Amino acid sequence: MVYNFYMTEKVFKINSLQELQEFAKRLSECLKGNELILLKGNLAAGKTTFTRFLVSAIDADAGEEVNSPTFSVMNEYETASFPVFHVDLYRVKKFDLTDIIGNGVVIVEWPDESLFEIEDVPVIGIEFEITGENERVLRLKVKKGGYVLECFE
Ligand SMILES: Nc1ncnc2c1ncn2[C@@H]1O[C@H](COP(=O)(O)OP(=O)(O)O)[C@@H](O)[C@H]1O
Ligand SMILES: [Mg+2]
Repeated sequence: MVYNFYMTEKVFKINSLQELQEFAKRLSECLKGNELILLKGNLAAGKTTFTRFLVSAIDADAGEEVNSPTFSVMNEYETASFPVFHVDLYRVKKFDLTDIIGNGVVIVEWPDESLFEIEDVPVIGIEFEITGENERVLRLKVKKGGYVLECFE
């Protein structure tokens, strides 16, 4: 059954860091706290920057802690609303996320394709494409998370 898998995609043209921050703020406002957010895109596409903006929008103090978790694989941020886990699988292709999925917002850079198949929680995929020094194209797809796309209507 392919039908409700990423049936809808929304494409965003982002022209500056500020526009990325606005996108992240908007997304933060519709999160329930159990989403799996999968970030794809080349190095320097903006995955970590987006994560910092998203966590900051949820909780300003927590946002300041966000850095690239490349060396630690996973960072956990406490926010006023729900825990946020930030995982970077660039070096580690296999990492067991079963204990954290559903227990907070889980943000994954360089996700394994199998993560897109997770059924238990809403999955939000964002693909970053570099189109200029400060410009990006973002493709947003959701599974079991129609409410997320509605936030952008
Ligand atoms: N509109 C934009 N969106 C995202 N990043 C941008 C944008 N404009 C410039 N940048 C810069 O691009 C770089 C993105 O790096 P980073 O977020 O670490 O990427 P990644 O985690 O995908 O490797 C940062 O230096 C950021 O300041
Ligand atoms: Mg990164």
